[in-house]
Amino acid sequence: MNEKKNEEFDFNAYTKMVKSYQEKDEPTAWFDSIYKNANGDYTAVFWADLEPSGHLVQWLKNNPIKTSKKAIVIGCGVGDDCEALSQFGYEVIGFDISPTAIELCQNRYPNSKVNYMVADLFDYPKEWFENFDVVYECNTIQVLPGKYRILARQAMSSLLASKAHILVSCRSRNKGEQEEVIPLPLDKEEIDAFVTSDNLKEISFLAYDDEQTPPVPHFFAVYQKV
Ligand SMILES: C[S@@+](CC[C@H](N)C(=O)[O-])C[C@H]1O[C@@H](n2cnc3c(N)ncnc32)[C@H](O)[C@@H]1O
Repeated sequence: MNEKKNEEFDFNAYTKMVKSYQEKDEPTAWFDSIYKNANGDYTAVFWADLEPSGHLVQWLKNNPIKTSKKAIVIGCGVGDDCEALSQFGYEVIGFDISPTAIELCQNRYPNSKVNYMVADLFDYPKEWFENFDVVYECNTIQVLPGKYRILARQAMSSLLASKAHILVSCRSRNKGEQEEVIPLPLDKEEIDAFVTSDNLKEISFLAYDDEQTPPVPHFFAVYQKV
């Protein structure tokens, strides 16, 4: 989050609102309100960095493609990561459960080659199953509670074609710590489940602190379906 947005943002009210939906077992019902509150201004979405992930861009530079491949971006928000994948030659679907997020993307990038669409990770179109060469996930699992985190991870892994990669970017924590925090960062055991439960191969794994003040611990991992 940038500092200006940080100052204006009422984090306690946000946490309370998210918890109230989680307690009603409606863990995805609040996302659209975040984008609606931006009133058509994509720069006002508090969690949007407004630039693609540096780790994603580095991976794309290190792994150039010769022919077009298919990528999908989970919970694509305001679209920066989708556009980066598109610029590196991928045929990209960016989807989000929030119709307002998708509208923001379409207005922000009227000439984009990315196919921005409203879809739910938990009920995605059948033809997406095992259909993508690259899946990009940034910060979606961490905003979900309990069993939905496992269902989300499984759904993400199920999008991978043979030999495909999934890139996972998220906040991190030590196991047993910060249990009540929103968003709830992933611990190592949780992210390792891409390997231990979904049978993917770990290609790289990075634990790092970001550049916020104070720094926030993160993971950036790449897994492959073998
Ligand atoms: C914390 S935001 C991160 C957005 C973006 N990936 C980024 O890094 O800026 C999580 C996103 O996931 C979307 N989302 C949550 N649950 C979803 C689901 N079941 N299917 C599709 N998108 C979902 C939300 O609407 C939101 O845009």
